[in-house]
Amino acid sequence: MAEIAIKKKRPKNLDLLSIRLPLPGILSIIHRISGAVLFLLLPVLLWLFQSSLASPESFATFKSVVGHPLIKLILLGLIWLYMHHFCAGIRYLLLDLHKGIDLESARLSSWIVFGVSIAMTLIIGAKVLW
Ligand code: HEM
Repeated sequence: MAEIAIKKKRPKNLDLLSIRLPLPGILSIIHRISGAVLFLLLPVLLWLFQSSLASPESFATFKSVVGHPLIKLILLGLIWLYMHHFCAGIRYLLLDLHKGIDLESARLSSWIVFGVSIAMTLIIGAKVLW
């Protein structure tokens, strides 16, 4: 009975826009979203890669499509999703080993993940896309 009374008193906030997540929370959500997006896009990316290598003509078509600024922007976003997932994944593996689990270190490592993944995205994007 007392348990029911306590449950009823719990505050409910369904206004997602008013919830202020800490940085490690934002990182965690992006890690989950990036994992799902990468998983769903994997067949598409493999198919694109395979068809680009089918013949010199298909490679030329692929190159011209990838040359479009909008496609480059989308690919840059995908590179960032992968880089974020990769860097955040390494952070999670370290957390699993109990490295950096206090609040201060968790915040710092979140900043590092964002910084390194964005820097790697810009470097790879500059080398591969431009
Ligand atoms: C195309 C490649 C990849 C795909 C499709 C993928 C997909 C996923 C998915 C769907 C999850 C579950 C996310 C969740 O529900 O929270 C996940 C988690 C994870 N991924 Fe990946 N991943 C990929 C590459 C990588 C790489 C390269 C690393 C290396 C660091 C990595 C490290 C992790 C880790 C450590 C977790 C577990 C995080 C946790 O403890 O919550 N992943 N991945």
